[in-house]
Amino acid sequence: MIYFDNSSTTRPDESVLESFIAANMKYYANPASLHVLGREAEALLKRSKEQMLKLIDNESGEVVLTSGGTEANNLAILGIAEAYRSRGNHVITTQIEHPSILNACIKLEEIGFEVDYLAVDAQGLISIEELEKKLRKDTILVSIMHVNNEIGTIQPIRQCAELIKKSSRAVFHSDCVQSFGKLPVSMESLGLDAITVSAHKMNGLKNSGALFLKKNVTPHAINFGGGQENGLRSGTVSVPNAVAMAKAMRMSTIHEDSADYREWRNLLIDACSLYENIRILSPHHGAPHILSISFKSINGEVAVNYFQEHGIIISTSSACSSKNKNAGHVIEAIGLENKFKNGVIRVSFGNTNTKDEIAEFIKVLKSFMELIERGM
Ligand SMILES: Cc1ncc(COP(=O)(O)O)c(C=O)c1O
Repeated sequence: MIYFDNSSTTRPDESVLESFIAANMKYYANPASLHVLGREAEALLKRSKEQMLKLIDNESGEVVLTSGGTEANNLAILGIAEAYRSRGNHVITTQIEHPSILNACIKLEEIGFEVDYLAVDAQGLISIEELEKKLRKDTILVSIMHVNNEIGTIQPIRQCAELIKKSSRAVFHSDCVQSFGKLPVSMESLGLDAITVSAHKMNGLKNSGALFLKKNVTPHAINFGGGQENGLRSGTVSVPNAVAMAKAMRMSTIHEDSADYREWRNLLIDACSLYENIRILSPHHGAPHILSISFKSINGEVAVNYFQEHGIIISTSSACSSKNKNAGHVIEAIGLENKFKNGVIRVSFGNTNTKDEIAEFIKVLKSFMELIERGM
């Protein structure tokens, strides 16, 4: 099978698994324990965190290890809003965030915060002018994803950061789950205060993620217990997960120029452009590893099944919304024409793919389009 669903999740790298097993065998002690094994585990945890902080250009800041991108996003939204409530109660995000941001924002609204959801254009891009208009003195948090998981739009994070710093005292968070390892992600260069990453999107382990926080940005905790992770995330810290995550981050940044992905994506765009019944939803200058297209008057599921029968795994929009029969929130937000709304598929590359697999995809696409043109 050819696996083109890497934005849903990736196959863990063997070296990541090896370091996970090795750390489990030797450093299984609780890093909070006072005995010698605990102290050794704690030292390894510290080293792993230092590596991660360096890789994201946040050496003076902090990292909170979580159960994945979802929990890190929840902590960013709920924890930061709560912590800065004395300054104001206004939050800004976008209409096309991952549900772990959007549903946390709905929760904020339920408890009295005011949330503005920035609209996007047909390419999924927010407008800097709209952000400027929405920023207020009482805006305490802005959360804008770096790369959209469904169509791959890259938001102008640096430009947003400059505006936010100029016009408000808001904390600026970005969900970088889809961008880390595919594009340069640096706390400094992007001008961010908080960044979410998830290990399983970069050949790391599932249920392992992190919220990186710039120095002096301190959310309130959203879970309660023994006060691990400086009180920000209670629960015994898994040192092996930290080791594996640092490894996955390091390995993925080695290839962050994503030159192959760009070339493959361009090949697919050229192939799709030959057909009138296909709309390319991803922006031309979108993320290198994501291509979303839509077939006119065809259900995305039909395409997914056809490709699967021909040995290729793709998805409808995102893993979260692929079982939902309605067009997802991103498809609605970009204002796709009705005839194309149900036919969305996403092809997403990872480090197990090859150029030959792209050629195979194009071959299967051709036969699928011939079938459609003959009325199936
Ligand atoms: C953009 C984005 N944010 C957050 C998440 C959630 O990450 P996790 O699966 O680690 O909870 C995902 C995963 O699909 C994602 O694509």
